[in-house]
Amino acid sequence: MRKIQIITLFPEMFGGVLNSSMMWKAQKIGAVDFRMINLRDFGLGLRKTVDDIIYGGGDGMLLMPEPLFNAVENAKQYDPTAKVVLMTPRGKRWQQATAKTWADSDENYIFVCARYEGYDERVTTLVDYQVSVGDYVLTGGELAAMTVIDSVVRLIPGVLGGETSSEIESFSDGETLEYPQYTRPEVFRGMEVPKVLLSGNHGEIAKWRQDHSIKAE
Ligand code: ADE
Repeated sequence: MRKIQIITLFPEMFGGVLNSSMMWKAQKIGAVDFRMINLRDFGLGLRKTVDDIIYGGGDGMLLMPEPLFNAVENAKQYDPTAKVVLMTPRGKRWQQATAKTWADSDENYIFVCARYEGYDERVTTLVDYQVSVGDYVLTGGELAAMTVIDSVVRLIPGVLGGETSSEIESFSDGETLEYPQYTRPEVFRGMEVPKVLLSGNHGEIAKWRQDHSIKAE
């Protein structure tokens, strides 16, 4: 069973995503086990402080190193060889090929979700991977972590339903987008399903799909 731990100030954000659909199924069949770690539990002092002002000036607050170090060390006690993944817009851009590599590996992960203006740079000494989900800034790493976790867990062998469905889908060969698909009815509000798809001619259908697969930039 693959173990995924998530360090966050907002564990409640994950409930809907991890306990629905494919992520729920993955847990039910024992393919993955999620463990939430509330960074607030590692806050300092009576007020459980996790952030402080930025040396050199600047707006906002940064996550202090100590609560994050203590939270990661807690996660490592539970799973000593797990890889630490820091979600940051400065990280390496996430891609389908990496999702596949991680799904096929035997690595476990500890996701670190930052908040406020970011984290103290010394936190990066704990980290194996820095991952960005795109060139835009989210309020925190939570949505980014959920995106990465979803894209990996659904590819863990046994999780996805149809054996071939992950092979044919968008980006799986790195550049081909999925072709258009249709279900019943044959005519909906005057819009018809392309005749070739109803023909039963597998060669023609394959050719049509190939012709209508769009290449990514
Ligand atoms: N945290 C904030 N923005 C992010 C992004 N684009 N990718 C990963 N983590 C983030």
